[in-house]
Amino acid sequence: MVQKLIAGNWKMNGLPSDIGQIHAIKAGLEDTPLSCELLLCPPSPLIMQYAAHAGDAFAIGAQDCHMNTSGAHTGDVSAALLKASGASYVIVGHSERRTDHSESDEVVAGKAIAGLDAGLTPIICVGETLEERRSGEAVSVVCAQISKSSASVLGQSYVIAYEPVWAIGTGLTPSIDEIAQMHSGIRAHLISVDAQKGAETRILYGGSMKPGNAAEILAVDHVNGGLIGGASLKSDDFLAIARAA
Ligand code: PGA
Repeated sequence: MVQKLIAGNWKMNGLPSDIGQIHAIKAGLEDTPLSCELLLCPPSPLIMQYAAHAGDAFAIGAQDCHMNTSGAHTGDVSAALLKASGASYVIVGHSERRTDHSESDEVVAGKAIAGLDAGLTPIICVGETLEERRSGEAVSVVCAQISKSSASVLGQSYVIAYEPVWAIGTGLTPSIDEIAQMHSGIRAHLISVDAQKGAETRILYGGSMKPGNAAEILAVDHVNGGLIGGASLKSDDFLAIARAA
């Protein structure tokens, strides 16, 4: 039985003065410990401060890294610097990066291996568009994305986050049956590539998960946690989702 992972993605939100959220999460965990693993991914400049305050209570991660170890890449951040700042995970291939920065599956695979090489666990994001879902091809589209985006990290420990693009930040979610079908399709695909690792790899669901729908989604077979955007910005909501796991 894999331990569930509840990961918050703050995206381009948060300031040093929001440190109270970190203290509130920590206080909540001291009151009532969780059975799942908890991770918060703030913007990179906040990682060092937040990780120092989170201590051993919960993990801090990054939202992106560069695929190279160092060099002339203005504005980018290396996985090694994220690790040295206190991150233990790195999200790669979020649909907002794939869209806003034209990141291909091959680039995502490069970032995933850069994360692993620096000692970070990559969370590789995949998901279909609304057109792809309507065409009935969602599972095969997502499995093809996984093959290409994780090609560099086979046999190693990583996390998959399934995030239907049309459900991110929209309040819309797939039906429970659609989530179950996708997650079991992903599991079968991972096992076909590597029986042992495929059975252990955590598959998170992301896209408009909130306190009101978390328990139902997290109870679905092969849903091993969540990647939470909007609802992770308030410590109470984030903790409520983690308690539902
Ligand atoms: P959301 O975002 O929870 O606000 O839909 C999820 C994500 O993009 O990780």
